[in-house]
Amino acid sequence: MAIRERRAAGLEYLALATELLQRARLADPEAGVWEAADLQWWWRTPRSSDTVEQRVWLDADGPVAAVGLTEWTRAWGCDPLLVPGRVPLTTVWAGGLEAIDALRLDDVETLVREDDPALRSLLAASGFAPDGELSGITWMDADERAAVAPLPEQFAIVDRTRRRTRPHPMRRRSGDQIETRLRQCSLYEPELDLAVETVDGEVAGYSLYWFDPVTMVGLVEPMRVEDAYQRRGLARAMLTEGLDRLARRGARRLKVGYGTDAALALYTGVGFRPAATCVSYRGRVRRLTAS
Ligand SMILES: CC(C)(COP(=O)(O)OP(=O)(O)OC[C@H]1O[C@@H](n2cnc3c(N)ncnc32)[C@H](O)[C@@H]1OP(=O)(O)O)[C@@H](O)C(=O)NCCC(=O)NCCS
Repeated sequence: MAIRERRAAGLEYLALATELLQRARLADPEAGVWEAADLQWWWRTPRSSDTVEQRVWLDADGPVAAVGLTEWTRAWGCDPLLVPGRVPLTTVWAGGLEAIDALRLDDVETLVREDDPALRSLLAASGFAPDGELSGITWMDADERAAVAPLPEQFAIVDRTRRRTRPHPMRRRSGDQIETRLRQCSLYEPELDLAVETVDGEVAGYSLYWFDPVTMVGLVEPMRVEDAYQRRGLARAMLTEGLDRLARRGARRLKVGYGTDAALALYTGVGFRPAATCVSYRGRVRRLTAS
């Protein structure tokens, strides 16, 4: 099947990446690292990568591969996104290196599954090395979720449909545009955007649940309880409520990634099972062309 290439930036790129990752998930129930909702979550804050014309490969049915470049605070992310069997990984990674070179990026990171030797060897051959950060992916069937856990007294769970006029609880970490940017995302639903509040209306924690009607996957991202309110069962109560809303919305399978032992214990405690571990590779990439 003929493959063509195009470039897209901003919301146009996000729409293509969403379609691509939905196709990838339909082709394989657990392969890869990212859901479409992950990239929509990354959209929450303006980044200089929003204006980068990203390279996307398409077949007759739509997007099948892309070089996912994202400006993070500490480095740029370069995440090859692929529908299996359409465009060789080597082609997509070479496109990534070209983009890194063209943008003159010298600190780049890529998250890769430990069970993905093909990408790991390409990364190593390109001068990338593991930076010691381990994380992982967990999945469960929605039917296996734990029952909704009771919330400790003096706290309440609210969603954005009930708090439209108040500042978004994530604005301190994600910036003043968070509400506007989330509402630009096709998979964002305010009913699935939860916070735990004290009786005084102070935000003790928040978490966001993404239902994908194409893949029927529900993703949790992010999840946080503020330091002063931890170890009281707030995360478990919020998570079980969010997963229940996802299941009632139609999600058949649920996914969440973890980066700490505490998060892994929280997630396995409500039914998630570890499915893959991931390694972060970091590259101080040498210039491919003389500057
Ligand atoms: C992870 C986090 C959300 C947990 O919030 P919390 O409200 O303290 O969690 P809960 O009190 O509901 O605990 C539920 C379970 O999680 C696990 N857990 C929570 N904190 C833990 C810790 N510090 N160490 C080990 N296990 C922990 C335990 O299994 C706990 O069950 P238990 O109390 O019966 O032992 C919170 O620590 C946090 O926001 N951390 C920073 C952000 C973050 O890492 N988010 C997750 C990203 S993947």
